[in-house]
Amino acid sequence: MLKIENVSAGYGDLKVLYNVSLTVNDGEVVSLVGSNGAGKTTLLRILSGFVPITTGKIEYNGKDLCSIKTFNKINQGISHIPQGRGIFGTLTIYENLLTGTFSKKYRHLFNKNLDSSYKMFPKLYERRNQLAGSLSGGEQQMLAIARALMINPSLLMLDEPSLGLAPIIVKDMFNIIETVAKTGVSILLVEQNLKQALSIADRGYVLETGNIVMEGNAKELLADKNIKEAYLGI
Ligand SMILES: Nc1ncnc2c1ncn2[C@@H]1O[C@H](COP(=O)(O)OP(=O)(O)OP(=O)(O)O)[C@@H](O)[C@H]1O
Ligand SMILES: [Mg+2]
Repeated sequence: MLKIENVSAGYGDLKVLYNVSLTVNDGEVVSLVGSNGAGKTTLLRILSGFVPITTGKIEYNGKDLCSIKTFNKINQGISHIPQGRGIFGTLTIYENLLTGTFSKKYRHLFNKNLDSSYKMFPKLYERRNQLAGSLSGGEQQMLAIARALMINPSLLMLDEPSLGLAPIIVKDMFNIIETVAKTGVSILLVEQNLKQALSIADRGYVLETGNIVMEGNAKELLADKNIKEAYLGI
């Protein structure tokens, strides 16, 4: 579904990604893990069209993704939940969900998917008329996920969904992502929380200072001696 080949990119003179190659197959959960500043967010921003590439190519369902304008990416079924969630704090939960189907292509899905969102996240239903800015961090992340699902995406990209959440809520968050994955949507999950991210993934990639240094079956990566030492401190 998604094929990133030898992509390099950066900001002005700053090179951030070096010959990165990564694939996501239909229905797969792929985790991209790595520490602060490795370039994970930059890669997602490239996929959404906010950062241009300097070399390489990206195919999405056989199309050249880089030639599709950012505002049209959503119409290709790509949902991006940015780092920091990107919800509208001064709008209600209901209104935030309404923005999920802002694109004309998806407006007909609103009623049905609003129902499914509220079923999946009863807390959002209970607080549907409350301003989103008054929600806790975990609830805001649930809202960001619910909003991203409003278009029935083919590819869901999540950037650090566990960031800033209490450990018990982090566990809930990964359970939610697993539940979403079971609906068949392909997921590209970016995380610093390597252990949790790999434990729910099919495959994983490790990014270090802009280079993919390891990739493979997620369970095998988790069991890898080097990963244990470098990232899990065991
Ligand atoms: N808009 C920008 N302009 C200039 N440099 C940037 C910009 N955004 C990110 N960078 C730099 O690019 C590098 C990679 O940043 P990026 O946000 O992609 O990393 P990350 O892996 O997502 O890190 P984190 O885990 O902290 O979110 C960093 O050195 C960062 O300072
Ligand atoms: Mg980031």
